[in-house]
Amino acid sequence: MRIILIGFMGSGKTTVSTLLADQLHLPVTDLDQAIEQSSGKSIPQIFQESGEEGFRTVEHQTLTTVLRGRDGILATGGGTPLRADNRRALAADPAPVILLHASPEETARRIQHNGERPLADALDTAGLAALLAKRQARYDECADFTIDTDGRTPQEIVDQIIGLIKD
Ligand code: S3P
Repeated sequence: MRIILIGFMGSGKTTVSTLLADQLHLPVTDLDQAIEQSSGKSIPQIFQESGEEGFRTVEHQTLTTVLRGRDGILATGGGTPLRADNRRALAADPAPVILLHASPEETARRIQHNGERPLADALDTAGLAALLAKRQARYDECADFTIDTDGRTPQEIVDQIIGLIKD
């Protein structure tokens, strides 16, 4: 079984995917970590050396490889649904695609401005809101289910996902 999590930066994909994998006894793949492992570079380093365009190319290649591989829980990157070929790849996979949503205020609280997210580090709440609004249609296009994560614990979200996939 495979379950794919999508959503904006700070929506909880990594935390929820780990907990979900644990409870369903499935392996977990974090696309950003897979990119770092296969390239031997950190995400900020890839952005610095190759720009966002270069990062998106590696992200697409890694997504394709991961989807060809073993089942399990897949946490994508916040920008994965931006490319049409990625959206097609997600739609072609039989796995349910679950969109985690958080408000810009909650996102700003969750994102530590620690240099690990090149596209969010310089953004305040209004900037995050603008970027989220720009991307929202892409996220919605990919999602089979949407879960609002504001004010909810990772366990509550995991329980909801388990309920959704059982139906
Ligand atoms: C990005 C999100 C990041 C990472 C990269 C770009 C984005 O992943 O892939 O910094 O464009 O939203 P997270 O959503 O896991 O932070």
